[in-house]
This record gives sequence, C-alpha cells and structure tokens, in this order.
Amino acid sequence: MLLRTITTALAFWAVTAEIPQAVLGSGTSAAVQTAPHCRYIPEDAGWPQPHLWNQLKRTVDGRLIATVPVGSVCHYPNYDEAKCNELTKAWGLAQTGVPRPAEFLALYFQNNTCTPFTPTSTRCVLGNYASYSIDARSIDDVRAGIDFAQKHNVRLVVKNSGHDFYGQSTGKGALSLWMHHYNKTTMIHNYASSYYNGPALHVQTGAEGAAAGAHASAEGYTVVAGSCPTVKMAGGYLGGGGHSYLSGIYGFAADNVLEWEMVTADGERVVATPTQNQDLYWALSGGGAGTYGVVLSATVRVFPNEVTSNAAFSFSVGQAGGIEEYWNAVSTFHQQLKPLLDQGMVAEYGFTNETLVVTGVMAPGHTSDSLQSSLQPLVDALTAKSCSQLTIQSLGMKLAQADSYYGLYKAEIESHLAGLVFPAAMAGRFVPRKIMDIDATELDKALRAVADRGYAYAVIALNALNSVRNRTAPPIAANAVQPNFNDAYSSLMISPRWTNSLPWSEAQVLQDQLINEILPMYDAAAPDAGGYKNEGNWAEKDIKKSFYAGTYERLEEIKKKMDPSGFFYGITSVGFDRFDWDSAGRLCKA
Ligand SMILES: Cc1cc2nc3c(=O)[nH]c(=O)nc-3n(C[C@H](O)[C@H](O)[C@H](O)COP(=O)(O)OP(=O)(O)OC[C@H]3O[C@@H](n4cnc5c(N)ncnc54)[C@H](O)[C@@H]3O)c2cc1C
Ligand SMILES: *[C@@H]1O[C@H](CO)[C@@H](O)[C@H](O)[C@H]1NC(C)=O
Ligand SMILES: *[C@@H]1O[C@H](CO)[C@@H](O)[C@H](O)[C@H]1NC(C)=O
Ligand SMILES: *[C@@H]1O[C@H](CO)[C@@H](O)[C@H](O)[C@H]1NC(C)=O
Ligand SMILES: *[C@@H]1O[C@H](CO)[C@@H](O)[C@H](O)[C@H]1NC(C)=O
Repeated sequence: MLLRTITTALAFWAVTAEIPQAVLGSGTSAAVQTAPHCRYIPEDAGWPQPHLWNQLKRTVDGRLIATVPVGSVCHYPNYDEAKCNELTKAWGLAQTGVPRPAEFLALYFQNNTCTPFTPTSTRCVLGNYASYSIDARSIDDVRAGIDFAQKHNVRLVVKNSGHDFYGQSTGKGALSLWMHHYNKTTMIHNYASSYYNGPALHVQTGAEGAAAGAHASAEGYTVVAGSCPTVKMAGGYLGGGGHSYLSGIYGFAADNVLEWEMVTADGERVVATPTQNQDLYWALSGGGAGTYGVVLSATVRVFPNEVTSNAAFSFSVGQAGGIEEYWNAVSTFHQQLKPLLDQGMVAEYGFTNETLVVTGVMAPGHTSDSLQSSLQPLVDALTAKSCSQLTIQSLGMKLAQADSYYGLYKAEIESHLAGLVFPAAMAGRFVPRKIMDIDATELDKALRAVADRGYAYAVIALNALNSVRNRTAPPIAANAVQPNFNDAYSSLMISPRWTNSLPWSEAQVLQDQLINEILPMYDAAAPDAGGYKNEGNWAEKDIKKSFYAGTYERLEEIKKKMDPSGFFYGITSVGFDRFDWDSAGRLCKA
C-alpha cells in the first residue's frame, strides 16, 4: 500500500516533470529508511530535498533536466496519438535515444516501464531511468554533478550516446551526466611527444564517430572509428577497445590513443599518456569505460587519407541450391576470408540459416580493381560446383571505391546502421583464429545449430595483428584491449528474432534461453573463446574471463587506486562485483 502510493506519485512525476520531492519529502511518514550502504532512490528519506536540486540547477546554469521518458507521449495524461505513432516506429532506434537526455537503447533495462507497447492507461514510471540529467557543457558541470552525487549519496551515471548494451548509461534514481553536447573535435597537425609525432585529432567525449571521421577527412586524414555513426568516439567505444573497418591496418581505436583527459571521483582533472599516469592510460585504453572517472576528451592518432575500396554481396539457401549447399558456402566463405584479413581487410556481415549478407569487405589502400582480383579466389571457391550452385551473378557483387575511407563509409556503409534495433537479449562471442586454422568442423556445426534455433549473427572478421598492420601502425603503447580480441578471427553478436510488438515476457524468456541454452551450444565447440566487452550480454557467466581475458586483476588494482570508494559503477565494468541491486533497485555495496 505504502509502496503503491509512492509509485503513483513517481508515475505522476514521470509524466508531468513536477519535482517529486514535494510529494515524497522526508518529512512524510511514507519515506523509506535505507541503510547508508545503498545509494538513495527517490522514495528514500535521505533523497535530496527540492531546494538542493534547485541549487544544483543554478550551479549548472539551468541545465538540470528532470526526466520525462520519451514514451510518456503514449500514456495518459501526456498521451498524444500522432507523437505516439511516430515513436512506435522509431522505438529502439539510435535517433530516438541519442539526442535526448536519460534515454538509453538497451531494451532489457528499459524494461517496459514507459513504452508505446503497453496500454495508454498504464502509468508511465521511471523504472531504470535516471531521475535527473545535467546537460554537461564544461568540466565545471561534470564536477558539479560528481560533487552533488558524492555529498548526497545519489548514484551518478554517465550517458554519452546511450548505446551501452548493459544499461550502464542509466541507473534507477541516478543523476546522469549527459555528455552529448560536449562534442568539439580539433585537428592537431603536429602532435609531438616521445611516443608519437604526427597528425592527431582531439575529441571531446560527446563527439560522434561519424563527426570525428568527417572532420578528420576534411583535413585529409582518417580516424579509426566504429561503424555506427552515432556511437561516440571517446566514451564507451574507445574505452572498450573499439573495433572498426580500419582495424586490419590501424588496429583497435584504443591502440591509437595518445592522451586521455579525465575527472576523478574527487573532482580532480588528470591527464594520462604513455609517459604520464601510465597505469591510468593503460586502463582507459580498452579496459572499459565508466569506472575510473569521467572522461572529458581523448587525443588519437590519425592517418593520411588513401584510396579505399569495398565489396558487398550476398547469397541465400535458394541461390546456393539447397540447405547443405548453403552451409558449404558459409564455411567456404569463412575459410576464404582468411587471406584477405591477413592483408589488413576487414569484413562485416550478417547471417542466419537462410541468408548471408556481406555489407563490406573493406580494403584500405586498394582500388576496386585490385580488390576484385584479391576476391577472385573467394568467388571461385563459392561458385565451384563442388561447393554450391552459386554463380557470379547470384552473388550480386557490388564494388565501390573512394579517395578516402570516410567517403566510402558515407556512401556505402552508414545507411545500413541507422535503422538497427537490437533485441532485448543479445550475446557476443569471439571465433578464435586458432580454430579457423586448425579445424572448424565442430564450430561450423554449432553455428548452424544455433542458427536453426532462429538466431542471427552480426559479425566483424579481422586480423588485428597482421604483418601489414605491424609494419604501418603498431599500438601507440601497451594497453588493456582484451588479448582474446587480438587473437580473434571474428567477433559475433548472437541475436534471437525480435520485434518490439512481442509480449514483453518474451524478453526474459530469450535472455534465459541465450545464457542457458544457446551460449553453451557455442561454448562446447569453442571453449573459453570469450567475447567483446562492448557487445555481449550482462549476464555472461564469467565476465572477468570472457570480457577481460587476463587484464582484470591489474585493472582492479588501478580501479582501487583511482576510485577507492567505488563511486563509479557498471554491471560489467571493473569493480562490478563489489555492488548489488536490492529488491527496490537500489545500488548497494555487496
Ligand atoms: C548500433 C550499434 C553499433 C555499434 N557499432 C560498434 C562498432 O562498430 N564498433 C565497436 O567497437 N562497438 C560498436 N558498438 C558498441 C559500442 O562501442 C558500445 O555500445 C559503447 O559502449 C558505446 O559508447 P557510448 O559512449 O557511445 O555510449 P554510452 O551508452 O553513453 O556509454 C557506454 C558506457 O561508457 C560510459 N561512458 C560514456 N562516456 C563516458 C565518459 N565520458 N566518461 C566515463 N564513462 C563514459 C557509460 O557510462 C557507459 O558505461 C555498437 C553499438 C550499437 C548499439
Ligand atoms: C524489470 O521489471 C520487473 C518487474 O517490475 C523486475 O522484477 C525486474 O527486476 C526488472 N528488470 C530490470 C533489469 O530492471
Ligand atoms: C555537436 O553538437 C551540436 C549540437 O549541440 C551539433 O550541432 C554539432 O553537429 C555536434 N558536433 C559534433 C562534432 O558532433
Ligand atoms: C531456420 O530456422 C527457423 C527457426 O528455427 C526454422 O523455422 C526454419 O525452417 C529454418 N530454415 C531452414 C532453411 O532450415
Ligand atoms: C604482429 O605483432 C604481434 C605482436 O607483436 C605478433 O604477436 C604477431 O605474430 C605479428 N604478426 C605478424 C603476422 O607478423
């Protein structure tokens, strides 16, 4: 009964943006007492009073925003039919979440609390949404947020783009630092240091990958960025390692970091480079974002633009001439990619038990003619009578060339990523190169069995430590990029079929199925392969091993030095096991 009153009040708050403390103030007997080892949430007695929030609002020049979930337009009293219809079509898309404070893309953590898919009469509640966001424009805003959260025992989260698959850019009852508008990029023509001399790009954390690419390219340079245009350069992407179509020649994004600028849990500004605060440099470069401090900016090595080519093609069961022929072709495709990856090309593709669609075999330094010749053995093998009934025509090969990677990305790749909606449950796994080189028979069987359960793969295939890359762009310095990614042939995202109109209870069914049935099928064929820390599942059975692969202990030491009280938290981030959520969703020290 008590709880019901509180949730009603909260629901009212969510849709009207009234400051709730007037209703829930600690003077009322409704306030819940909690142990101080938990962060306060709005129904707690210790939750900051309205005047304190108003003070914070003045400190950040009015840029404190009380959360109104975007889904509130689909619920009374905010219901608006036209806006709700628009939102229904755009639910889960980056364009919906990225430009709004407190929105995040991870549907599992959104948890159906305020969506277009529940009746309009259902109350819109905040659930796992942060309660307030600071639209951060300066280091002072960041410090104000840290200081307030520290003083008042409120959870602090950082939302940059909100792409995080584990809901780490949100938190129930949290104060969020929304970094979207802290997004300048600056060209440095001659970065000079003992570890690198040459061109570089300085990126504030809120700059998007595509914006960084566009800026560098206009100045004649190429920056290692991800495929999704709206993933931010210097937040979770760079912090988690960051894979790219360019990783075959320039390595992971984190391999190219020259300098980090960060604010600690004490509000202190620190700079980390290969020669200054080296431990922090090592940890921030691939060891996972959001746990050591708030990153303000990074400076990354860039490379001169060069001619780049891309090939796209696809095939299906029907075109291959049958199910066995199709899987022959998939296996042949995988084997034939290896020599291309060894020359520094990177492939991104998706496949199910019915089709395989290659968005790109990206070949920096190649004209489309030279790419076509490089692809000839692959095409010959796929179209061989002993393999399948595929023909050069049925592959629908499309070659494209531009004077820069960014130009080609813009023309051939970007549009494929804008429309992606990820299911409520998804997991990740590496394919170790060793398995591909020694014997892929069991792996092929497992991939097929999982696909026959209705699952799809989204894949990036690469060889991060090939001889071309070793010659042209070794890492700037040692870093915490997970070693199992360096040794991988590919990284898979494994997703069940999903549409937003499925009953919400399916989300938990699919989540459990992934962890308890699907991943074990894969792991039996490729034991201990691990997966990319930015593209996996939060309930991964051994996070330390799978996502950190031998780097966890040193990262934990660094975490303890930088943030001894565990102020920064993420469910898969270093230090995660020192906290738990209680039944009301409070973050509590374990
Ligand atoms: C559609 C899509 C495409 C993707 N494509 C790629 C790809 O091509 N290559 C690739 O490697 N990955 C890719 N990813 C994964 C992506 O790298 C991660 O989701 C990444 O964490 C996003 O970082 P962000 O800062 O943009 O997002 P957010 O969700 O805002 O942040 C991610 C995490 O980093 C923390 N964080 C963000 N900014 C800061 C900061 N300034 N200081 C401290 N902590 C911070 C957040 O608190 C959170 O824990 C993709 C994801 C999606 C959804
Ligand atoms: C989602 O909501 C349900 C029901 O309120 C709750 O039991 C569950 O813990 C929530 N899940 C997450 C990830 O918050
Ligand atoms: C930065 O954000 C502004 C809006 O605040 C936008 O107009 C601009 O394009 C963004 N720039 C970059 C580099 O992302
Ligand atoms: C692919 O898997 C789905 C889901 O299990 C199944 O219904 C379908 O028949 C399979 N297709 C082929 C070609 O085997
Ligand atoms: C590239 O360098 C790495 C690390 O130094 C090494 O492990 C790898 O074998 C090298 N690869 C080639 C093809 O030279």
